Amino acid sequence: MSERDDASIYRSPVGTHDVLPPQSERWMQIVATFAGRAARFGYGLVVTPVFEHVEVFQRVGASTDVVRKEMYELTDRGGRSLALRPEGTAPIVRAYVQHRPTPPWKAWYLAPNFRYERPQKGRYRQHWQLGAEVLGVDDPDVDVEVIALAHGFYAELGLQRVRLVLNSMGGPDDRARYVAVLRDYLGAHADGFGEEFRARAEQHPLRLLDAKDEGWQDVLERAPQITEYLSAEAHAHFEHVQRGLDALGIPYELNPRLVRGFDYYTSTTFEFASDALDAAQNAIGGGGRYDQLAEEMGGPATPGIGFGIGIERVLIACEAEGLPASSGSRLDAFVIDGVGDGTVATLVAALRESGLRADRTYGGRSVKAQWKVADRSGAAFAVMLGRAEAERDSVGVKNLRTDDAQIEVPREQVAGWIRARREESGITKEHGITGERG
Ligand code: HAM
Repeated sequence: MSERDDASIYRSPVGTHDVLPPQSERWMQIVATFAGRAARFGYGLVVTPVFEHVEVFQRVGASTDVVRKEMYELTDRGGRSLALRPEGTAPIVRAYVQHRPTPPWKAWYLAPNFRYERPQKGRYRQHWQLGAEVLGVDDPDVDVEVIALAHGFYAELGLQRVRLVLNSMGGPDDRARYVAVLRDYLGAHADGFGEEFRARAEQHPLRLLDAKDEGWQDVLERAPQITEYLSAEAHAHFEHVQRGLDALGIPYELNPRLVRGFDYYTSTTFEFASDALDAAQNAIGGGGRYDQLAEEMGGPATPGIGFGIGIERVLIACEAEGLPASSGSRLDAFVIDGVGDGTVATLVAALRESGLRADRTYGGRSVKAQWKVADRSGAAFAVMLGRAEAERDSVGVKNLRTDDAQIEVPREQVAGWIRARREESGITKEHGITGERG
């Protein structure tokens, strides 16, 4: 083996991380919020494999770093060339081409993505995306719907410092015409900017447009703009999208230099930037149309549009905006065993099966130690199985958030009693995904 020592082997690999409680509660809340919206908008969950044949991705981004330089590629024991998913659109389109569902096909997904990037805050080698894709309609109303799905998601989480940036790449012909003009322009202004500028201007002129290098900004700002090269049809589509967003009261800014990182984009493109994050990693979501992709993958000509949202970046944005992670306690009840006859196990089980979140300690700890754990657990109520109460088939219940004295409740009724208190205080709605019963 390599000379790595145990200390580095038994850590998550560089650029990856674990999500543990209590942070994972917000993670779950983010996923549940998105899942709820996607369902309300009529999207169905689609789960695709973590790896695909490498060609699925090569076809969509031969000129993009994500595919050329950052992909995790592997050969399996059967000699197949596979790649860990670097992004979510290609697998969804591959699944569409494979299964041919009736269009329009409205899909949403939650999936890890892998990119061999230089890790920094907000940029990881494994990141999670929530996304949505619609295949089979080129109606600009769909562009508006897709953008509204994402826009309202950030709002539902309580994020306020989110900007929507909008552009159009036009149809494939518009794009090709523009790229030629841009390449000429950049080539003519490359003197003194060094070899890197010249090479990028020649090979990937679009990618240069959002380069951050200070010295290049003047030339980039004066570059011809894609929106001047849109066909009448592409222009009308883009106008329709803008009017649709206006009608829904969704603010946006136009930026003809917004160039998204994949080759498949046509027509409407967009990005959501968080002003609470560092400028280099402020994209908390992005997407656009890809009207040629299904055909390029051997399927019927099928327009498509969608977006991906980086969960880690949304988490950082929530933190940066000071949003509280959770509105209440994780647990409804903590059961304290003062009798030691095994009743604790049946009582905890009964509470849980009735829909309450309940926990206990293990290993026969002293009553005093159990109370300490109950206090620290953040549970709403302690349920005390005391000897005296046990003789009367009842339990003691203490509100852990108030100074109210412990009261006695018949054991049969304790679940209902706590549920009633919980409903009064509205804690039930805390996660919206706890699978409540009764
Ligand atoms: P993307 O812009 O590459 O687009 O990624 C979407 C989002 O994923 C970004 O806005 C960002 O929030 C997050 N993200 C990307 N890379 C990283 C990373 N290394 N670490 C943390 N977060 C990251 C796509 O992937 C397209 N498939 C989106 C799309 C869907 N276009 C059409 N449909």
